[in-house]
Amino acid sequence: MPLKRYETKLLPVNEQSLRLAEALLRGGELVGLPTETVYGLGADALNEQAVPKIYAAKGRPQDNPLIVHIYESGQLQDLAARVPDRAQRLIERFWPGPLTLILPKHDRVPDCVTAGLPTVAVRCPSHEGARALLRSGVVIAAPSANLSGRPSPTTAQHVWHDLAGRIPLILDGGPCQVGLESTVVDVSRDRAVLLRPGGVTREMLQEALGEEVALGKGVMEPLAETDKPLSPGLKHTHYKPKARVLLFLGEGQALRAGLSAAFDRAAAEGQSPVLLCQDGLAKDLAPRASLSLGTDEQQMAARLFAALREADELGHDLVLLQGVSQQGVGLAVMNRALRAAGFEVRRC
Ligand code: TXA
Ligand code: MG
Repeated sequence: MPLKRYETKLLPVNEQSLRLAEALLRGGELVGLPTETVYGLGADALNEQAVPKIYAAKGRPQDNPLIVHIYESGQLQDLAARVPDRAQRLIERFWPGPLTLILPKHDRVPDCVTAGLPTVAVRCPSHEGARALLRSGVVIAAPSANLSGRPSPTTAQHVWHDLAGRIPLILDGGPCQVGLESTVVDVSRDRAVLLRPGGVTREMLQEALGEEVALGKGVMEPLAETDKPLSPGLKHTHYKPKARVLLFLGEGQALRAGLSAAFDRAAAEGQSPVLLCQDGLAKDLAPRASLSLGTDEQQMAARLFAALREADELGHDLVLLQGVSQQGVGLAVMNRALRAAGFEVRRC
């Protein structure tokens, strides 16, 4: 199917743009919308003509299912066959917010949303712009609003960069606060399994449930060709800028030495390297080119995707990325960092 071309509008979230967005969604068109995690590319989740347009606009593999966004948990009645106790506890604690639940699917949900799986991913975002649109009652299937494989968009400008001409409207709700996609937890089985770490951390989930939350196979290590992933997204390439990314693990002087040696070697070979690291490390390694990931893991989460895109825009062909501990939101940062690097890791 050839892609339809649009004169894309980029509008701030207000009453008028929300009305336009709702009309487009109800008419089977796509809308770029802000959430607290990353920008989404939304379609009416119950419209089987509209949902395939998401895959076409992003160039997304057909076997990777979408997350359905809702305004309030009461809407689960029409989306999930049942809501297990574990899910209920997590909903009470973390919705609205950056948490997606995998639930047994209701017959009403079209197969094109779930890529034929018997489960459906649902989330209730907290961003005011997203909520204002969802308040109309339309349920929105939305992946991140990037071209497939690229870093997820954390500003409306990122969405414009990837999708201008491919969709009719992008709502600008400012930079995303969390900056990494939602935590995905499978609560459709007899134990909770974390399929994608995010702003709601594994520790927070375990505390809310009072039990261990398993880490899905392939979440923090590459899957083998023969592995069947629990979440289809685990086997696809993600978050890749054009530049090659190398992820550096280590601490203190060893990490500084590893990064500076790699930077200097690449520069001597005529490459254009850039460091992506926290401010303290960047200062120690100055005047080498760097992009700031802030001062802690929370700020790293919020800045990582934007920094990967910026490295491309500045023409760098090698990104040397600082790894962090996998505690708290560090697990989500490292999950994205490992994928951005295609699991190319240097231990210092
Ligand atoms: O924060 C977010 O979750 C953003 C914003 C827009 O809400 N959305 C997002 O969507 O990140 P996407 O499509 O980029 O990621 C959805 C992930 C994929 O890894 C997909 O494989 C997984 O959720 N997923 C969706 N439905 C699933 C299911 N039924 N079972 C297992 N994994 C599922
Ligand atoms: Mg995505």
